[in-house]
Amino acid sequence: MTFLFNSDAKRGAIFTEAFARELPDIAFSMDPKSVEADAVRYLITWTVPDDLARYRNLEILFSIGAGIDQFRIDAVPASVKVVRMVEDGIIRMMQEYVTLAVLALHRDLPTYLDQQRRRTWQTIAPVQASDRRIGVLGLGMLGSAVIERLQPFGFPLCGWSRSPREIDGIRCLSGRDGLDTLLATTDILICLLPLTDETRGFLNAGLFARLPAGAALVHVGRGAQLDHQALVDALDTRHLSGAVVDVTEPEPLPEDHAFWNHPKILLTPHIASVTQAETGAAAVIGNIKRHQAGLDLIGLIDRSRGY
Ligand code: GLV
Repeated sequence: MTFLFNSDAKRGAIFTEAFARELPDIAFSMDPKSVEADAVRYLITWTVPDDLARYRNLEILFSIGAGIDQFRIDAVPASVKVVRMVEDGIIRMMQEYVTLAVLALHRDLPTYLDQQRRRTWQTIAPVQASDRRIGVLGLGMLGSAVIERLQPFGFPLCGWSRSPREIDGIRCLSGRDGLDTLLATTDILICLLPLTDETRGFLNAGLFARLPAGAALVHVGRGAQLDHQALVDALDTRHLSGAVVDVTEPEPLPEDHAFWNHPKILLTPHIASVTQAETGAAAVIGNIKRHQAGLDLIGLIDRSRGY
């Protein structure tokens, strides 16, 4: 029985050690050319390899990342379980990044950075956290973890998800009406939605128009959810005041793209959250043990929902 690791060698070395320690009966390989295809029961990868069909006995396809939208899931046999990465490292990094982004927007950092470049010493009247309403789109593992981390700052927090969710002490909305309410009462909008057919292009002119004037955006979902021109227009007409963008479509952006130099956009190259090898290996090993014991897998994809 073989586990095939198809990702970078640095993380692979840490996975190798963890597997040798925790699952010594499973052969661990980082080389698809040398494995016996029929022995491969588990595969971890970022994209689905073109020759997936050769692994006829594959039981679980693990994503090395938090999302599985990069998989062409229709090409994965229905008998194969598809699992996204649920591990503490990804969660912690996303909490850090979103906190950084929210505080940067809350404390007018894009404007102050622009002023610094222009040698301008000018203060902006500060808004207190209790008057800065935060709306989180997506209440999965990352959305709820981000809400938990933001709580101590005292921002009014509200979350939205497609189907109803409950988080202790947090106003949670769902469905179309819930989205209208959330948008109308959000000053900093955080997108942590999975990419599906329904969320492609979700962050568009119509959505921005439903936010109060002066609202800001933190985009850490997926690039294809954001209409770039709509964001630039909303910033240039001053309907939106700023944005922190970590994911774009395409990645990287072309050299002449408007985001690079936009004074109201803080842009980072898809670094908000990355699977950490130690905690990632522990999560995958834990899931294989659950699978062997006939238990439900953590992060199992529901193919009908697409995430
Ligand atoms: C990164 O975006 C991931 O899915 O882990």
